[in-house]
Amino acid sequence: MSINLKGRSLLTLKDFSPQEIDYLLELAMDLKAKKRMGIRGDLLCGKNVALIFEKPSTRTRCAFTVGCVDEGGHPEYLGKNDIQLGHKESVMDTARVLGRLFDGIQFRGFSQDTVEKLAQYSGVPVWNGLTDDYHPTQILADLMTIKEQFGTLKGLTFVYAGDGRNNMANSLMIGCSKMGIHYTLFAPKELWPKENLMKSCKEYAELSGSTITLSEDLACVKGADIIYSDVWCSMGEEDKAAERVKLLKPYQVNATLMAKTEKDNTIFLHCLPAVKGNEVTEEVFEKHARIIFDQAENRMHTIKAVMVATAGK
Ligand code: CP
Ligand code: NVA
Repeated sequence: MSINLKGRSLLTLKDFSPQEIDYLLELAMDLKAKKRMGIRGDLLCGKNVALIFEKPSTRTRCAFTVGCVDEGGHPEYLGKNDIQLGHKESVMDTARVLGRLFDGIQFRGFSQDTVEKLAQYSGVPVWNGLTDDYHPTQILADLMTIKEQFGTLKGLTFVYAGDGRNNMANSLMIGCSKMGIHYTLFAPKELWPKENLMKSCKEYAELSGSTITLSEDLACVKGADIIYSDVWCSMGEEDKAAERVKLLKPYQVNATLMAKTEKDNTIFLHCLPAVKGNEVTEEVFEKHARIIFDQAENRMHTIKAVMVATAGK
């Protein structure tokens, strides 16, 4: 099947078919191999991309910047104090201006509605670099890393431990259910995902032949190929720190949890940044550091693939 993603936005993985996701992963692997061989690309030559950041970022910002420059494009960083987005100028007007000047727009910020409006009014591909609800480019890097480790995605067992309704958990549930990975959430009921998202993901899982399980019982990690965690307090939720630590302490990824998988080749992944001592112990983190930093590197290859596929020559 020939796949053409030119002009498409990436606002959430809900909008992409498993075949399209797989295409992006394969393209990212090709681009990674090309970079390893020292071959310079020109797939974004003459293209300008705007990088809007309302929230801070290390990996996403650097991945978009390096990925764009590697392929001959020009990235323009627009921090929260650099532009008037949503304050002195409406999102709709900023979108229409940027759409006249740029070939693609990355947005990281609070509201999913903002990234959707940017896509609606700019007329160019818009890429969601994280909102309160979703973090789709991260999931592409996670899937690529899993594929590198296991050679396949379908039929693997994935457990996410921690805040089960944040942007990462939401997006991982979408990504896993689309790609045929069994998804288990190990989280307290208070932090389980919204019903409507569950409903969509159950439909994806049915199509891909995977399952979705929500559990408060540590025994649910048995048989996991991948254990994943993220911070207990996402950006913008700093006031919830004390209550989250109390609520999520039993869901920490530590040696006891890893042993409960009853497997010796289970990998641990983390989107980073990590708060060691909270969602993961230093011991587990360091044991799996090589793959965690492959995962961080893969942010760049997958983001490059997204830009090339949707806005490239
Ligand atoms: N994982 C991730 O999105 O990292 P940054 O917040 O550093 O971009
Ligand atoms: N859930 C985290 C992800 C960081 C990449 C946050 O939103 O802060």
